[in-house]
Amino acid sequence: MGYTMEQYRASAKAIRDRLGDFIPKVAMVLGSGLGYMGDEVEGAVAIDYLDIPNFKASTAPGHKGRLVFGTLEGQRVAVMQGRTHHYEGYSYEEVSYAVRVLRLLGCDTLIATNAAGCVNTSWQAGDLMLITDHIKMFSESPLRGENLPEFGVRFPDASHLYTPRLRELARQTAQELGIPLREGVYFYCYGPQYETPAEVRAARVLGGDAVGMSTAPEVIVAGHCGMEVLGLTLLSNMAAGILDQPLSEQEVLEAGEAAREKFSGLVRACLRKM
Ligand code: 6GU
Repeated sequence: MGYTMEQYRASAKAIRDRLGDFIPKVAMVLGSGLGYMGDEVEGAVAIDYLDIPNFKASTAPGHKGRLVFGTLEGQRVAVMQGRTHHYEGYSYEEVSYAVRVLRLLGCDTLIATNAAGCVNTSWQAGDLMLITDHIKMFSESPLRGENLPEFGVRFPDASHLYTPRLRELARQTAQELGIPLREGVYFYCYGPQYETPAEVRAARVLGGDAVGMSTAPEVIVAGHCGMEVLGLTLLSNMAAGILDQPLSEQEVLEAGEAAREKFSGLVRACLRKM
């Protein structure tokens, strides 16, 4: 525990040495089954996580484990094609390490995407959800440990982690494209087991609309270091206990593929306006 400023800087330097004078602006994390946008980057320079000091391998299904730099819709992007999760055995600090490195490289915005289970019974599998807020109060913080003031303050405000301006931008963009967009709260769970029906009911009572195993750690770290955040969830399946049907990783990946046009259309149009 306890990465130092020197370690973050060393990772940033290793990447910068590969990028020349390219400075990324928008960092993107692509969740399960949503990694295809990384393959659409123009003028791409791809760097495997394993070739960057202190980066960890991504072992989750549908996660490639590389950073892709280039442009999408004219926007300079740094795409994390695959992420790491706490359930893979990594600490929250490790899981969110790349966000700080991308901040050092120049990114001021994070688009965080994921596939998650749908808790809200008025909605359907396949729907897209704009994340308005999250709940991650039952697990430790990625900011636990010594604070690095170069990134932010000891007790960061979390009133607007999901930037209101970007939420409005996404809302308007979805409307223009005729893409239905739900809005709701992402309830973080450790995994790797999916929730029990009782846990899903608990998440609903507490105000969650979606349950997932990612995103909240990276967003906390992004907010701490002053980045604006846009969070998008593909509700890949109904959460446990809602339908009488077992959950599987296969269905999550298939849902990602099925939502490809809608998801990538919305993200691209948002990028154009950022
Ligand atoms: Cl139902 N739960 C969690 N935690 N993550 C998911 C999911 C459910 N469906 C896709 N990802």
